[in-house]
Amino acid sequence: MSGPLTPPPAHTLTWSDALSLQMPVMDHTHVEFVDLLAAVNSSDDTALVARWAALVAHTVEHFGQEDAWMAATGFAPENCHATQHKVVLQVLREGLKAGEAGQLAVIRQMASELALWFPHHAQTMDASLALHMKSMGYDPETGQLARPEQLPAQAISGCGGACSSEASIENSTEAATAPQADISPAVA
Ligand SMILES: [Fe+2]
Ligand SMILES: [Fe+2]
Repeated sequence: MSGPLTPPPAHTLTWSDALSLQMPVMDHTHVEFVDLLAAVNSSDDTALVARWAALVAHTVEHFGQEDAWMAATGFAPENCHATQHKVVLQVLREGLKAGEAGQLAVIRQMASELALWFPHHAQTMDASLALHMKSMGYDPETGQLARPEQLPAQAISGCGGACSSEASIENSTEAATAPQADISPAVA
């Protein structure tokens, strides 16, 4: 049911060059993410859960792709970027469950917070990953590594200086289990 009881989303997101990381395959996925999020934000109640489900399914692939690139270029499995992916995905899945149970406001709230979270994540953790891949000549489309000698001697657990939100990410684990899950602590 829409109408005066359904407030407009507090935050929305549109693609801009500022979000580009100069890595076409990554940018392409991010444009899709932004479009799917916009579709959620502009949705009426009838289509909301299906659009959210599409965003969650895309995010599984999106995060999985980046996690695979990290694994191929010397990151430890539980590095902070991959951990943030895991936590955020858990929150989004909780939102899907809530939406399927009729709590559409949970999805609307999360969508608003995602619009704030994404630019921060892209411009810190994803940007750092893109630079890291470029530094060793890793081609994300072919998996070819031009300069294997650049692989780190020890697996990387941080994010190249983009880990300032590590503590707050952990806070969002609790949020993931709450009906009104709040992902904003993950992006603070
Ligand atoms: Fe990303
Ligand atoms: Fe990422």
